[in-house]
Formats: sequence, C-alpha cells, structure tokens
Amino acid sequence: MKKNLTRREFIRAGTAGAVAFSWPGARRGPSLLAAETAKPAILGGSPVHSGGWLPWPQWREAWEPKMLEVYRSGKWFRLSGQWVPEFETAWARLLGARKCLATASGTTALQVSLHVLDVDAGDEVITSPYTFIATYNAILSARALPVFADTDPATLTMNPASIESRITERTRAIMPVHIFGMPCDMDPILAVARKHNLPVIEDACQAWLAEYRGKKCGTMGDLGCFSFQESKHIPSGEGGAITSMSEEMIDRCNVYHNCGRSAGTIKGKGSFTRGDNYRMMQSQAMMLLLQIDKLQTETAVRRESADYLSAQLAKIPGITPVRLPEGGRAVWHLYAFRYDAAQWGGLSRDKFMKALTAEGIPCSSVYSEQYYDGLLDEAIASRGFKRLWSAERLRSYRESFDGLKGNRQVCATTVAIGQNMLLAPRTDIDHIIAAVRKLKDYSGELAKL
Ligand SMILES: Cc1ncc(COP(=O)(O)O)c(C=O)c1O
Repeated sequence: MKKNLTRREFIRAGTAGAVAFSWPGARRGPSLLAAETAKPAILGGSPVHSGGWLPWPQWREAWEPKMLEVYRSGKWFRLSGQWVPEFETAWARLLGARKCLATASGTTALQVSLHVLDVDAGDEVITSPYTFIATYNAILSARALPVFADTDPATLTMNPASIESRITERTRAIMPVHIFGMPCDMDPILAVARKHNLPVIEDACQAWLAEYRGKKCGTMGDLGCFSFQESKHIPSGEGGAITSMSEEMIDRCNVYHNCGRSAGTIKGKGSFTRGDNYRMMQSQAMMLLLQIDKLQTETAVRRESADYLSAQLAKIPGITPVRLPEGGRAVWHLYAFRYDAAQWGGLSRDKFMKALTAEGIPCSSVYSEQYYDGLLDEAIASRGFKRLWSAERLRSYRESFDGLKGNRQVCATTVAIGQNMLLAPRTDIDHIIAAVRKLKDYSGELAKL
C-alpha cells in the first residue's frame, strides 16, 4: 500500500471503514485474552472502534423524483433550464454574497477568477503552499507563478506576516486558502492587499459556510471560489461556484465562463471577448439545491464534534488541536491536529497513524511539501516560463521553497481525520479520544516496533 494517501484517496478509504495497513502484529483472531484487549490493536489487542464510519458521498431516495425531472426535461445544459440560476441565487443568499456564478468545478472557478482579476502570463500570485494541488495548478494555467507565503503551524493557514516580503512588481493577486474549512486570518491579509492595491481571491473550495468575524468565507475578498466535487460537504460529482459582493465582477466571470458572451451588465456582440466553457450542468445544480438544508444541519453537527474533540485531545500531551483565528468558525472538511513525536517517546508520526488506523480510526498526514514533487520544476523549466521570467528570478523562486519553515513543520506533524467521522454519534467520537489515549499509554512499546 502507498505510504501517503492523497486527501481524496484517504476520504474514500476512510468512508469504507479502517484503512487496511499491513503491519506485523496487527489484529489477531477472535480468542484474545481479556488483558490483551486493552493493548493497542497493532500489538494484538482489540480495536477501539470496529463499526466503520458513515459512507461518503450520500444518496437520498427522496431526491430521485427531482433528479429525474431534470433528466426527463431534456434541459441539461446551463442555458436551457432554470436550476443553475436557482442554485446561484440560493448559494449567494446562504453566504450573504451579492451574487454567485456556478461553474464546472472548483479549479475552473479559480481559473475564471484569476482571468477576471487580470492575472496574466508573467504575473505572480501569492498563495498558500498548504493546499490541494488545484490551487497551484489554476495559477500555473494562467502562466503565472504561485509564490508561497509561509504556513502558520498553529492554524495551518497562510501566515499573514509572511505575505509582504513576497510582493514584487509582478505580484497581481493574493489567494488565501481556507484549508480544511478553517478560515484564514483575513483582516491582516486584506490589510496588506489594500496597502499594495492587490485583489484577493479566496480559495474557499473546502470552506462552505465557514466564517470569520461574522462573514462567510468567500465573501471577504474580491472573489471567493468553492468546489462541489464528490468528496465535499455538498457534492455534485464535480461542480464549483464563484461568489462576490460585486455584481459586476460576477457578470465578468459569467462572460468568461460562457465563451466570452455578454452577461448581465457586461454587454457585447457575439463572443466579443476571450472566454472558455466552464459551465455547470442543470443536473449538478439540482443535486446541490437538494443538499442545501443537509449541509447546514451537518455543519452544526461537525462543529459540535470538533469542539468536543479539541477540548478532549488538548489534554493529551503531544497532541495539539489547530487554533482558529479570533472570530473564526470552521466547518472541518478534515479535522486536524499536530502530533509531537518527542512527547510520545519518539513514536514516529507514521507509526502513530498506523496504530491509530488499526484502532479503527482512519487518519492521514494529508499534504506533503508538494512544491518539491516536480510540478513546479517542470513549469519553470518550460519554454514559456523561461520566456516570461529571468533565469535569476526562476532560480530565486525555486530556492524560496527552502525558506517555508512553518509549512515544513506542518507537513511533518499534521494528522487528520475525515469530515464524515465528525457526523458520527458521540459514543463513536469518544472512540477517537479513547484510541489516542490508549496509544499514548503504550507509546514507548509502539516506538520499538
Ligand atoms: C483547496 C482546494 N482548492 C481547489 C480545489 C479544486 O476543486 P475541484 O476539485 O472542484 O476542481 C479543491 C478541491 O479539492 C480544493 O480542496
């Protein structure tokens, strides 16, 4: 089995029950001695949790008539039916945004936003390195350079104090990422953006209904982007949205996402400006409309479970729940904490995660230092990028990764569980806590394995 699961692989595996790690000594047969049941499962005891977890995504039979209505209507694409605009209105209202545009995916929402905010070939966009790779990709597909602010190890989000030193004459936008549904500390980010006259695109692709100081994520910057991909809290297989407090901005997004045709306040003849096809389908919109109430109910449950987990896990030495910025309310796409092996008798994070998984609590280290994975090396070695930047800039850019000390720490110490687990009853949430406590008691023995 691969050592590091991607976030999506992990979510899929986690919803199917415990991830099957093959480790010597893992789970024995049914005739365990009573004394052994108290041991970690990986040492031959019984797992704390054996019931699996809520599968994800979920389907409701009650949705079927409405979905069939869409298919039977023959109105399948954006411009032939009413459901995409209905969803846009509902999503904007839910978030308190002025207007919303639905898109084919979160990635295309980011691409449209970058175009509309005039990020062009040879520009630079300051973003967070601790994110799903689509954040990097969207910037690269604009032939712009993703320049990384450092990650704050306490919050796992962009450290606002690290932004200003990254601004160059080429910087065109700032793109904070509300990772795992945890809001970034937006006030200082917006302040530095204002000071340098830079627009802000919020990557809220994991932050449906997350809040910061009374405002929903996706409504604080110039544009906010969401994903409704299958693993998400409100999924439609693929899907995305852009929100804004500016009607004109969303109209501009609409134009670009629909082959450069006029929309709302932006008038023109035919395809009067550049564009692409990033439209949402009617069936996606219907699925989303059907899940809006569910999203709100489940968000409250996840929050309650996460608050409880944080209060309990914080009592265990070497486990540090994530800190939210003042006035922040997360929605916990993943529930993450940081793990300090030094306080666990040197038990490595990998061994800790294997032992926790064996207890029936699937977990993941999530993102690694993916700027070393080759994607950016390939981009900066390309003919286009060499044309757009000096060799000196590309060299200093590549060297700058080594300075991302906060992010390195985060990538080496984070452990996360899936959002579906937070929807479980309190007795199952207690299993998560009991499993971590049990492993702590045996950390010395586990470290020797
Ligand atoms: C932080 C982040 N940004 C962007 C995306 C891209 O969204 P999509 O997969 O819908 O294209 C995702 C999706 O997982 C994401 O988590």
